[in-house]
Amino acid sequence: MLRQAKITAVSHYVPDRVLTNHHLEQMVDTTDEWIRTRTGIRERRILEDGKATSDMAAEAVKKLCKMRGISPLEIDLIIVGTITPDMFFPSTGNLVQDKIGAKNAWSYDVAAACSGFLFALSSGAQFIKAGTHKKVVVIGADKMSAITNYKDRNTCVLFGDAAGAVLLEPDEEGLGIIDFILHTDGHGAESLQMKAGGSLYPATLRTVASDWHFINQDGKQVFKYAVQRMADVSVKILEKHNYTGDDLTLFVPHQANLRIIDAAVKRLGIDYGKVMINIGHYGNTTAATIPLALSEAYLTGRLDKGDLVLFATFGGGFTWGSSLLRWAIEKPKDILDI
Ligand code: ACO
Repeated sequence: MLRQAKITAVSHYVPDRVLTNHHLEQMVDTTDEWIRTRTGIRERRILEDGKATSDMAAEAVKKLCKMRGISPLEIDLIIVGTITPDMFFPSTGNLVQDKIGAKNAWSYDVAAACSGFLFALSSGAQFIKAGTHKKVVVIGADKMSAITNYKDRNTCVLFGDAAGAVLLEPDEEGLGIIDFILHTDGHGAESLQMKAGGSLYPATLRTVASDWHFINQDGKQVFKYAVQRMADVSVKILEKHNYTGDDLTLFVPHQANLRIIDAAVKRLGIDYGKVMINIGHYGNTTAATIPLALSEAYLTGRLDKGDLVLFATFGGGFTWGSSLLRWAIEKPKDILDI
C-alpha cells in the first residue's frame, strides 16, 4: 500500500514592519472603516527593500528544521509556492536551498497565486507517497508589496508579505494528508493578473508607465467566483469522504477577504470557533496565508494529534482547491498567546 504524507512540522516568518489601515489612509483615498468592513483587514506586514521572498522563506525553513530537530542536510526536496520569486530564474527554491545550506535537496517553484501552497503541497505529497523522498519542505511565500501599486486603493489595502513552511514525511500511523481536490480555470486570467514582465510584455518604458508590473484585479469578478468555488470545493471534499462540518476540528481557509471566508463557513455549516482567521493582522499574503494560519493555529494550541483539518483556497488563474488531513503533531508544550 502507498504511504501517506504527513505534516511533521510547521513554521512561519513575518517581517517586523507593520502597515496599518491608518497608514494607508495617508497614502490613498480610503478609510480604516471601509477596509475593515469590506475585507476584515486591519494591518499587514511589509518586507524591507533589499530583501526578497527567499529571505522570508529561508527564515521559515530554519525555524522548521529547529522545531523538528533536523539538519537542513536531511532535506530531500524544497518546493516553493510563490508568484513573487526573487527573480525569473534561478527559482526561489534554489535560492532558499543555498541560504539554508540544504546541500542534498533539489528544488523548484510552483506558480498558482493564492493556491500556490496547496498546489505545492499536493506535489510534495506525491514524492512521499511514491517512496522516493523522505523529507520534503513545502513553502508558501510572497513579497506582495513588490508587485502592489500603493497608488491603487482597489488593491493596495489587500496584500501583505509573509512566508510559511511545512515538513512532509512518510506516515506510519494512519495520519496525514487524506486527499486533495484542485482546479484551474484559465478563463479567469484576465480578472487577476500582473500583465508585464513576462515573455508577452517584457519590461519597457511603456509597460512601466502603464503600471503593468503591478497586480491588476477586477475585485468584483474575483469575489463572485471566490465565494462560490471556495465554498463548493470545501463541501465537496468532506462529502467525498463521508464527513460533515461537525467532524472537523479546524478549517484553515485562504485569507483573502473575511466575507469570502464567511460564505465558505456558512456553506460548511460549521461553528465559527472551528475557523482559523488571522487576516486582520496580515492581509492577503497569497501563497503564505494557509501555512501562516496553520502555524499560528498550531502554536496557539488549536491542533492536536488525530484532529481532522480542512484547507481551502481560491486565487489568481483562476486556481482553487481543498485538502483534508489528519493532523499528526502533538499539541506544543508551551502554548503561545498571540
Ligand atoms: N477604499 C475606499 N473605497 C474603495 C476602496 C478602498 N480601499 N477600494 C475600492 N473602493 C471603492 C470602489 O472604487 C467602488 O467605488 P465605486 O462604486 O464608486 O466605483 C466601491 O468601493 C465598491 O467597490 P466594490 O468592488 O463593489 O467593493 P467590494 O465590496 O467588491 O470589495 C474587494 C472590493 C475587497 C476588492 C473585493 O471585491 C474582494 O475581496 N475581491 C476578491 C479578492 C480576492 O479574493 N482575490 C483573490 C486572491 S488574490 C491572488 O490570487 C493574488
